[in-house]
Amino acid sequence: MTSPASPDAPVQSYKLRRGRMGVVRQEALAEHLGRYEVPAGTGVLDLAALFGDANPVVLEIGSGMGDATLAMARDAPDVNVLAAEVHTPGIGALLQGLVEHGVTNVRLLEGDGRTLLTERIAPGSLAGVRVYFPDPWPKARHHKRRLIGPGFVELVADRLAPGGTLHCATDWEPYAEQMVEVIGASGRFTLDPDRSRPAWRPVTRFERRGLALGHVVNDVLATVRPTARP
Ligand SMILES: C[S@@+](CC[C@H](N)C(=O)[O-])C[C@H]1O[C@@H](n2cnc3c(N)ncnc32)[C@H](O)[C@@H]1O
Repeated sequence: MTSPASPDAPVQSYKLRRGRMGVVRQEALAEHLGRYEVPAGTGVLDLAALFGDANPVVLEIGSGMGDATLAMARDAPDVNVLAAEVHTPGIGALLQGLVEHGVTNVRLLEGDGRTLLTERIAPGSLAGVRVYFPDPWPKARHHKRRLIGPGFVELVADRLAPGGTLHCATDWEPYAEQMVEVIGASGRFTLDPDRSRPAWRPVTRFERRGLALGHVVNDVLATVRPTARP
C-alpha cells in the first residue's frame, strides 16, 4: 500500500532489497496470507473486526524476518500485533512462523507501515507502536530517510490511545540520541529514563549483528501524555 508521491510526502525510510524465498515460505504465502493480511483498501481499519476481538493493538513497523515479532506475540496472546514490513521474504518468514505455531494475534501488512499509520489507523486507537532497529541511515545526506523524526513522532502521538507507548530500539547511538531529542521536543510524551532492553523484548535478528560488532543498544520508551481531544 503506497500512496502516490506528493511534495509533502516524507522520504522513503527503506530501500527495497531483493531476497529469495524458499519453496516452503512461498507455499505458506500462497496458502495462508489471505487469513493474516491486512485487507487492501483506503479506509480506516476496523481493528476489532480485523483481529476478531477487542484486545489492545500494537503496530510494529519493520518487523524484518519476524523472529522477535513472533516471540512477543506468543508471549502476550491478549495483545494484537499489526506487523508491517516492506521486504516480502520477511513477511513470508513471519507468516510461516505464525502458521507453524498456531499464532492468531498477528496481522501482516506487506508495505509501508508509516503509510498504514497515516491513512488507515484511527486517532487514539493503538496501545503501542514498536520500531526495533530501524535502518540507521548513518550518512548525513541520508538522515532525512530516518523513520523516527518530528513528523513521525507527531503522527504516533496522534494514533496512540491514552497511556499508549512508542518503543524504539537501535544499536546506532547517534540515532538513539536523535530519537530522544525528537520525542522530547514533541512535548507529547513522557520518556522513560531507563534505556536498557526490557526483559519482555527479545533480542532481534538485526540486534544480534550489532551486538557482535560491539554496538551499544538503546531502548527508547515513551508514554503519550493525555491531551484534550475535540
Ligand atoms: C534493520 S531492519 C530491522 C528488522 C527487525 N526489526 C530486526 O530488528 O531484526 C529494518 C527493517 O525495517 C523495514 N522498514 C523500513 N522502513 C519501513 C517502513 N516504512 N515500513 C515497513 N517496513 C520498513 C526494512 O525493510 C527492514 O526490514
